[in-house]
This record gives sequence, C-alpha cells and structure tokens, in this order.
Amino acid sequence: MKRIKVEIAPGVKTEFVDRDRALAQIAEWAERGTRFPVVIFGPEGYGKTAFLRQAAAALRELGYDVFYLHPLDRVFAAEVDDPDVKTLFLDLMRKTLEDEKWGRLALAVFDLTREILKKRRRKIAIIADDVFQAIGLDKAAAYVKGLLNMIEHPVYDYKNIVVLVATSEGVSRREIGRHFWAQLRPMWNMPKEGFQQLYEKLPGPKPPFDDVWRWTGGNPRMLGRLHTAGWAAERVVGDVLREKGLTAEFVRRWRRCLEEVVEDPETLWTGDTPEELVEELEARNLVVYNMYDRDPYFWIDQPPPQRDPELGIGKNVAWQTPIHREAVRRALRDAASS
Ligand SMILES: Nc1ncnc2c1ncn2[C@@H]1O[C@H](COP(=O)(O)OP(=O)(O)OP(=O)(O)O)[C@@H](O)[C@H]1O
Ligand SMILES: [Mg+2]
Repeated sequence: MKRIKVEIAPGVKTEFVDRDRALAQIAEWAERGTRFPVVIFGPEGYGKTAFLRQAAAALRELGYDVFYLHPLDRVFAAEVDDPDVKTLFLDLMRKTLEDEKWGRLALAVFDLTREILKKRRRKIAIIADDVFQAIGLDKAAAYVKGLLNMIEHPVYDYKNIVVLVATSEGVSRREIGRHFWAQLRPMWNMPKEGFQQLYEKLPGPKPPFDDVWRWTGGNPRMLGRLHTAGWAAERVVGDVLREKGLTAEFVRRWRRCLEEVVEDPETLWTGDTPEELVEELEARNLVVYNMYDRDPYFWIDQPPPQRDPELGIGKNVAWQTPIHREAVRRALRDAASS
C-alpha cells in the first residue's frame, strides 16, 4: 500500500506514518466490503482526514471506484473509471463551487453510484469526511440510512462496496448511535511508537520526546501546533482556552465539577455531574464521553489504554489530549484570580 503525502505543520511534509493496524483494516474492507457504513469518530486532530485520504488512495490502488467528499475543506474527488460519471461529477462540482451548496455533492453520490453500476458490476468506495456539518446535523442519521440502503438494497449489483464516514463531533455520534444503521467505530490518537516516528520527522531542535508525549498524548494536530508555536506548550494551551470558549463565566458556573474532572475524567461518568455539563464538554470537543471497550475489535487502529491518569484517559471518559485538560485547568486558575 503506497503511503500518501501529508503536511504536519505549515511547510513540513511527511508521508502518512504508522497506523499499521488501520491500514490492515482497509485491506480487510477492500476484500469483503463493509456490511454497514463505518462511522469513525474520536478526538479532534487525531488524523481522520489523513486516514480517510490514505484509505481513498489505497482503495483506488485496489481497483475501487472512489468517491471522496470533504465539504469543509471544499475537496471532492471522483476517482472513477467511467468517463461519463466523471464528467457528471465535475459539472456538479463546478455548480457547487458557484453556489456553495456543499450538501448537494454529498447527496449526489447516490445517483452517481447507480450510474456507474448500471453499466457494469464494480467495486465502489464512498468516503465522506465531516459531511454532517455540510448537510446539517439533523440530516446526519438520514444520510447514513441512505448509505445503508445503498449497501443492502442496491438498484444494480456491485462486486463490493466500502462506505467510510468520519466525524469528530460528539453530537452526530449520538444522533447516529440511536439507530442500527451504522457501525460506529472510535479511533484514538496515535500509539506511542508510531507517534515517535512522526516526532522524529520534524526538523530542528525539539524538546525530549517524553515531554511531547505528555503534552499531546499522541495527537498529531497538537504535535504540529507545538512545532509551529516554537514548542511553547503554554501558548498552545492559551490558544485552546480561547478557541474552546472557556470563559470566566463558564468555569465559575461549573467550578466544582470541573475541578474534579481535571483530576479524573471518570468523575463525569460516576459522579453526580449534571448532564448539561457533559454535553457542554462534548460539544466543545474537550472530552470523549462513553469510550468503548478496549477490545481491538471495536476500534480502528489501536485502542487507547484502559486508564492513563497522566494523559487524562479514564475507562469511560477521556480528555481529548492533556493540552485540552490543561486549558480547563488554566481557565479555572484565571477565574479564581480575577
Ligand atoms: N498518520 C499520520 N502520519 C502523518 N501525519 C499525520 C497522520 N495523521 C495525521 N497527521 C497530520 O496531523 C494533522 C491532523 O490530522 P488531520 O487533519 O487528519 O486530523 P482530523 O482528525 O481530520 O482533524 P479534525 O477533527 O480537525 O478534522 C494534519 O496535519 C495531518 O497531516
Ligand atoms: Mg479533518
């Protein structure tokens, strides 16, 4: 499997690193197809766009016709052999670039797939990254149902079909999880050895790897941000604090619970935390709530450890990265001193 090129920080290019188990899972899907749309979720910046791009390239290499949709980044591709479908797709894309109705392209894959299969039985892959924001969260479940129908009740026969959808957003996960229409599969930050390979690729002087691991917990986006910030972790913490809207008012309101949660995320699960706070933390992508059993069967790539207090990982709840936790800790301190 050829590895794609990615950019880990502005101007720093590398190839797609590690994720060996996830790549083996792509090969398995290619072999058998996915019986359900696989909906992948996890922390922000854990590398889902990189992984889906890698999956698209790998499936193409394995003889699939591939539709790749990434509305937030305005990237769409139809790597298909049928020239008519390719033209249809490009026309639609041109139109969409004009009126910015991104959801339309996400919906068009249903017709385009049918168009391809009308002529010949083929292997089809649909890879959709962050589509729910484009089509509207209220339509996320219906979209997934449409994809499932395509697998279960195709108008024309296919040889194999692979459907991968990713979201970093806890709310859509819950919305989809209410139905049996998808296989929900979490993916975590990178495992330590793989993450170290990525760290080694960064040019220039660097702090020791163990420090970087303790700050990022293996999150490749955080690695890139630290590099860009000249490795000043406190600056990145400051940025995250502002991005996540951790205002004095927010932390004052939830102080008692938040103080417990920064010590041990599991208190969100076992304690008497109001559901509203859980929702606030999930919606801000600060924690992942309701983590899966660590049986690798349930996970894309390697599951995280059962518990890692240093990285803020509990059995059922985890901070997305230690920097997220640190931002909340700092917000609590700031609010106390103001
Ligand atoms: N396996 C990998 N090898 C090399 N670089 C990676 C890998 N995974 C992710 N990256 C890099 O880390 C950064 C974050 O990854 P990416 O954009 O894929 O995350 P994401 O999960 O899609 O984030 P978001 O939740 O914001 O959509 C990117 O710069 C990406 O190129
Ligand atoms: Mg992404």
